Amino acid sequence: MSEVTFNVLPGGAFSGSVRVPGDKSISHRAVMFASLAEGQSEVRGFLTGEDCLCTMKAFRAMGVRIDQLAETHLRVHGVGLHGLREPAQALDLGNSGTSMRLMSGLLAAQAFPTTLLGDESLSRRPMRRIVDPLRQMGAQIETTARNTAPLRIQPVDGGLHAITYKSPVSSAQVKSGILLAGLYAKGRTEVFEPEPSRDHTERMLRAFGVKVEAEPGRAALQGGQTLRACDVEVPADISSATFFMLGAAIVPGSELLLTDVGINPTRTGVIEILRRMGADIELLNQRQFGGEPVADLRVRGRRLHGIDIGGELVALAIDEFPAVFVAAACASGETVVTGAEELRVKETDRIQAMCDGLQALGISALAQPDGARITGGRMQGGTVDSRGDHRIAMSFAIAGLRAEQPIRILDCANVNTSFPGFANLAASAGLRITVQG
Ligand code: S3P
Repeated sequence: MSEVTFNVLPGGAFSGSVRVPGDKSISHRAVMFASLAEGQSEVRGFLTGEDCLCTMKAFRAMGVRIDQLAETHLRVHGVGLHGLREPAQALDLGNSGTSMRLMSGLLAAQAFPTTLLGDESLSRRPMRRIVDPLRQMGAQIETTARNTAPLRIQPVDGGLHAITYKSPVSSAQVKSGILLAGLYAKGRTEVFEPEPSRDHTERMLRAFGVKVEAEPGRAALQGGQTLRACDVEVPADISSATFFMLGAAIVPGSELLLTDVGINPTRTGVIEILRRMGADIELLNQRQFGGEPVADLRVRGRRLHGIDIGGELVALAIDEFPAVFVAAACASGETVVTGAEELRVKETDRIQAMCDGLQALGISALAQPDGARITGGRMQGGTVDSRGDHRIAMSFAIAGLRAEQPIRILDCANVNTSFPGFANLAASAGLRITVQG
């Protein structure tokens, strides 16, 4: 992969109106469910980040016709629950944990074998959390000795059977992978999790005509149900909007409008966290895109203060902690994050990568096994290694708004996995960023 470096000059302030690209979780699911449905579905606002393109390529490789009518507008010709075909090669899912964990569930139920591969980061991430419950359903899946990808999936005589599963981790990827396998299983599949994770699968399956029982921390469905084609309008991704919320929140005097942002209550932990730190975030024009609530967010810069973050807020803001760590560095006093050990098994170890990066910029940031203690202070400039993690790269880019000297961020190519066009959009809103490489 080519080396990409972000160079950010200090200062600047966000203003104006920004529409970030489509939601990553919803875009993956839209392609998957539309492929498995009977009939044609259209997807508008699709995220053309590399992760979702991996999902799209994988379904095309299994015989699904997907027309790209415009940059973010797809027409998917569904093949039905049993219409996928054996791909000619292993499916390469790049950096995308969502593709791998969700697809392992649905591919475990097919009448043909598949192999799922990923890049270096994805090949280090834990797969036992999804493989274990799928094996309990009868799936035949081989991993490496370290329980990592490649995953080699074999068809099972007689098919999968339903289970009730109490997941030890709160993970929408695990929950969704099991539910997708459950669509093919005999009987009723039910998943419990310790804290509620994002519920896009449950909402979108319902939109495709599947009966799903869902409440916070529990989801269940009966196998053998048919998906019926359904058009999907994808909201702007709150996880991508977070970098702009952060930028506007940490610079007093800024004012930014973020339009069409998904505000599904299982994703809005970051709004709650930033508000508790003193941020001024207003939700305007609340409405629905299909089964998903959206709003325009108006964020005004204010002085922030440190807080304690733990409990159910962790799952509700799981992808937003790199940005929250930067907010903590810009706040007065100490911020303490606990119960967030999941951050260690994301695209990189986000606790360590963020604490190392903040320290390189002169901020006191102490990594703990399940979180961190960060004391707000004056942010110097310096060089930070994003370790190929898109959200680490974007968080440190935004930190440039409050730094006293330039920040150089290494290894930023993977920003394209979730947020193509980030640097240009951030520059248009007021960040002094240039891209090298
Ligand atoms: C996702 C679930 C989360 C999140 C990821 C997307 C999804 O992962 O971190 O970016 O689309 O289901 P976990 O379910 O592993 O927490």
